[in-house]
Amino acid sequence: WLFFTVYSIIIGQVLRMFVHMVGAKRILLIGRLKGYSILALSEALPDDGKITACSVEPYLGGKSQEASDYSSHAKKISVKVGPIADTLEELVAVGEHFDIVFIDADQRNAVNDYHFVMDNHLLRMDGVICVENTLMKGQVYLENVSDENVLAVRKLNTVINSDPRVEQIILPVEDGMSVIRWSCTPAAVMESKKAVVKDDVFWGHNRCRILDRLRLDGKVAYVTGGGQGIGRAFAHALGEAGAKVVVVDLVLPKAEGVAEELSLKGIKSMALAADVSKPEDVQRILDVIVARWGTVHIACNNAGINMNSASEDTSLEEWDKTFNVNLRGLFLCCQAAGRIMLKQGYGKIINTASMASLIVPHPQKQLAYNASKAGVVKLTQTLGTEWIDRGVRVNCISPGIVDTPLIHSEDLKPLVQRWVADIPAGKLAQVTDLQAAVVYLASEASDYMTGHNLAIEGGQSLW
Ligand SMILES: NC(=O)c1ccc[n+]([C@@H]2O[C@H](COP(=O)([O-])OP(=O)(O)OC[C@H]3O[C@@H](n4cnc5c(N)ncnc54)[C@H](O)[C@@H]3O)[C@@H](O)[C@H]2O)c1
Repeated sequence: WLFFTVYSIIIGQVLRMFVHMVGAKRILLIGRLKGYSILALSEALPDDGKITACSVEPYLGGKSQEASDYSSHAKKISVKVGPIADTLEELVAVGEHFDIVFIDADQRNAVNDYHFVMDNHLLRMDGVICVENTLMKGQVYLENVSDENVLAVRKLNTVINSDPRVEQIILPVEDGMSVIRWSCTPAAVMESKKAVVKDDVFWGHNRCRILDRLRLDGKVAYVTGGGQGIGRAFAHALGEAGAKVVVVDLVLPKAEGVAEELSLKGIKSMALAADVSKPEDVQRILDVIVARWGTVHIACNNAGINMNSASEDTSLEEWDKTFNVNLRGLFLCCQAAGRIMLKQGYGKIINTASMASLIVPHPQKQLAYNASKAGVVKLTQTLGTEWIDRGVRVNCISPGIVDTPLIHSEDLKPLVQRWVADIPAGKLAQVTDLQAAVVYLASEASDYMTGHNLAIEGGQSLW
């Protein structure tokens, strides 16, 4: 009993690890079902995850049923009882697509099930098939075997091994687990029945698939105004995509807080204090970044402030303060980072402008802010065209009204209802709505884009 329990825990951990590694949401189980395995899988799945279990028998077996009854994750499990071939047909008919497919090799129709899953694309492109019991206690390698089950599993292993569409390894887990994934190898392409156009669209640019082209592994990024709001969301997004991130803010504890969050997620980070309107501060942060991490590839110039006043009352102090941070500070950062990037022939600069560069937001009055953000766009267009032939792309993002501390001032709070009525999307933007854009503009996938002002405003600038 003790052996069984320890063994179940180990298998459970292996399965949970698979689910996390694949980022699985939908799992298909074919064949005899083990309760502890289903339980482990369902626990590892996110709340909207789903396990479809195909079973010939109308029950999961004593222990298994108990285990799944007690699990709060049982709602993720749907058991389909009946001939497996029929169930698989049904799943294809409703357009199901799975991230992980488990097949029990020790059942009569495993070869057919494997073929069916592959031929009907029940497995998504980056998914894996796990075939359980593929070693049969090593018997599959013995000569003079007459046991029908062993011969059937051996046949299945041969079929998988000779399938040019896949690559596999056998792990010594349980009674042998084959892990199989699609491989777009030349062998598979050669054996394809239809002629294949072997170009960059087919293989992916530099043999990289589109989501991999958005990755920022090995890149060094900084984000100004990274201590809260949009900058914090940008720092997380760039880090999640693989970059090392320097969080820069006027207020050091804020920057440190975000750097700490990143490091909790396994993202290499550092916090630096700087007032971007001061040239000596800007030069210092770039010197520190280069000294510690060698260079900078991604410059996210996001720090900005917003003050409100009627234009006839706007003081020179307000005008200067706004322009010093929003435009002069951004120029200083672009120039200091740009010099490093031009030298290395590569760089991505992403400036935060605003929808206020396109329209005049109302009813609040913010002449200096609007003018400074229009300046950010023109600066971006100018640098974007001046530097692209030396490998440096400069673009900007123009958020609409984003739900951040910037708009929670006593003056602006009462205006929220009014703004929402002006937004086709019917709601304010969340900082997470902007994250994919910064990753795209930081990645090689956007290399042909420069001087662009990317508006993300729920359609507000169109009304
Ligand atoms: N929130 C919105 O609705 C909205 C809409 C469009 C554009 N934007 C722009 O997005 C950017 C970020 O806005 P947010 O809403 O996250 O603002 P926020 O006020 O929530 O955060 C700005 C951060 O920048 C830092 N900062 C301020 N001045 C600085 C300076 N001189 N040097 C370094 N850091 C400084 C602040 O300490 C703060 O942590 C700004 O450029 C803003 O103009 C915001």
